[in-house]
Amino acid sequence: MKKIIIDTDPGIDDAFALCYAFAHPQLEVVALTTIFGNVNVDLATTNALKLCELNNTDIPVARGAVQPLSIEPNPHSTFVHGDNGFGNIELPPADSAPADKDATDTLIDIVLANPGEITLVAVGPLTNLALALKKAPEIVNAVEAVVIMGGAFDRPGNVTPHAEANVWNDPHAAREVLTADWPVVIHGLDVTHQIIFDRDTFDSLSSGNPKVGKFLHDAAEFYIDFYQQRNNFAGCCPHDQLALSYLTRPELFESETAALDVITDGDEIGRTIRSPEKGMANKQIVKKVDATLLVNDYLDTLTRNSK
Ligand code: BDR
Ligand code: CA
Repeated sequence: MKKIIIDTDPGIDDAFALCYAFAHPQLEVVALTTIFGNVNVDLATTNALKLCELNNTDIPVARGAVQPLSIEPNPHSTFVHGDNGFGNIELPPADSAPADKDATDTLIDIVLANPGEITLVAVGPLTNLALALKKAPEIVNAVEAVVIMGGAFDRPGNVTPHAEANVWNDPHAAREVLTADWPVVIHGLDVTHQIIFDRDTFDSLSSGNPKVGKFLHDAAEFYIDFYQQRNNFAGCCPHDQLALSYLTRPELFESETAALDVITDGDEIGRTIRSPEKGMANKQIVKKVDATLLVNDYLDTLTRNSK
């Protein structure tokens, strides 16, 4: 089993990814850490707790940073994910409470207690990871890997012509994380836009998994509407899921090795770039994915053994 911590801002596509991670036999989710982004950090934390309970999972959920390192906070993406982060579909209130430790200390303590064993999966703004790096730089040698959803390399962003949302929401944190000397695999919009979950995908999910799949089906409606209006897609991009699928089915992906950096001011703020001078060339930019096999694997994982 691969031990992972997911740093997340749930979020509809975060919910797709978390439910997959909880269901997958090769993944052991040891903790969730939360971050502002799609919603504020308190709502992200409540949503993460609710997703744990929906999936009968009792793991620490640690509340993370409230705002970015340097820039003024951007508005949350309620027009993409709904006011409650789940397309305005309600889950029952969570009985459990957040962990006593915050996200930064949770990340540091778990990574250092399990040297070489923890993969950090970051699917929101990278503030918590940047704060952990600042407080305990030795974690760069203690993680197994850092797998990220964020950025846009050879295509426009989804918030500005240059910036993807997770990087846009804290470009300084993204720079710290992408230039640190640890092994990073980054799934930008270049690859996440190769996958579309359409209404048939969600119908299969719902009929094959009447509890978790039905919730994801219902929450996806709002997200699909957004994609239909914005991109004229018949479906939605499950961005965050790619970081999880990469861990279980790496053979479906192709990537390029590079050194990376992030533009932190001016018109191109939030743009992710290849930068041989700045960073270490131990980063993988994921370029291509087998879309059919990824969607099939997603459905199999969520519907296998479900009642
Ligand atoms: C990323 O931004 C968020 O809205 C999504 O959850 C995903 O992590 C896509 O740009
Ligand atoms: Ca996210």
